[in-house]
Amino acid sequence: MKSKVLISLLSDGRVHSGESLAAKMGVSRTAIWKQIRRAMEEGFVIDTIRGRGYQLVSDVDLLDFDDILSSVAEEYRSAISLRVLDEVDSTNAEVVRAGHSGTHDIPVVIADCQTAGRGRRGRNWSSPRGENLYLSLGLTFDGGFSVLDGLSLVLGVAVADALEGLGAREIGLKWPNDIFIERAKLGGILIELQGELQEGVVQVICGIGINVHMKSAEGVDQAWSSLDQAVSGQQWCRNEIAGALISAVLNAADVFTRFGFGHFREAWQQRDIFQGKPIAARGGEISGIGAGIDETGNYLLDTDTGLVPVRAGEISLREVL
Ligand code: BTN
Repeated sequence: MKSKVLISLLSDGRVHSGESLAAKMGVSRTAIWKQIRRAMEEGFVIDTIRGRGYQLVSDVDLLDFDDILSSVAEEYRSAISLRVLDEVDSTNAEVVRAGHSGTHDIPVVIADCQTAGRGRRGRNWSSPRGENLYLSLGLTFDGGFSVLDGLSLVLGVAVADALEGLGAREIGLKWPNDIFIERAKLGGILIELQGELQEGVVQVICGIGINVHMKSAEGVDQAWSSLDQAVSGQQWCRNEIAGALISAVLNAADVFTRFGFGHFREAWQQRDIFQGKPIAARGGEISGIGAGIDETGNYLLDTDTGLVPVRAGEISLREVL
């Protein structure tokens, strides 16, 4: 966003004279006027008040490195290497590109918008500027790929707990890890695995997208919601949400490493939106009643021939209405 400095100066909602803005930014008043026009082209609503100056009318929720870091639980602040970007193709791709820095820092990338946001199953992830949260972390685990069973469900539990901790109510999980609120998708998690960094050490890119202020979503073909829409009377701040999610994910990854998936199984089942519902899998090949997950995180369908496990990544589940 080209007008970020100007917008952050105006973000208190007060009237600022062109002169004071010019002095603060070290540019001429003409340059300020040009920036005001550019900000308006970017979608901000700014009133020009004759003889007094400019006032930002639209709500803004700017990403800020320091605010994000101070919202991360203290114990994790020095463990992460945080980057806050204006624009990127995909925060997951950026974590991969950053590679393993050679330090023990956990790479965390957040962007104001993504130009090629990725969803599960090769889909696009709608990533408009300034509206939602796009966050990726590079987590490392010892013990090879086999220790990762159930991790993607664990991350869903962590995200749901963090959002409820901030005031959202009754966050549900659609297997394996879609984040739901009021029967609509609020966010998603994309887990991508990188080859072993060294023997037995695997890197998992955990990408989280949460709809925060989004008002319209072109090309999204399922019921969706946002925190603004689903939770009335609360002002959502992306920096605070980011800090809470980073802390929750790092804490869950620690607990998962020490105690395994079993520790989270019950918490996941409590949030299962398919529990007891008639559902179909493998494009309708199997149908049954949602019966939760087994000890490795497979989804169980209660069918005429008994419980049938459905493996993560194999197929998607849908409710039969
Ligand atoms: C899904 O399909 O439900 C998963 C969506 C994951 C989107 C997030 S946004 C941050 C990160 N970067 C990406 O390109 N995708 C994930």
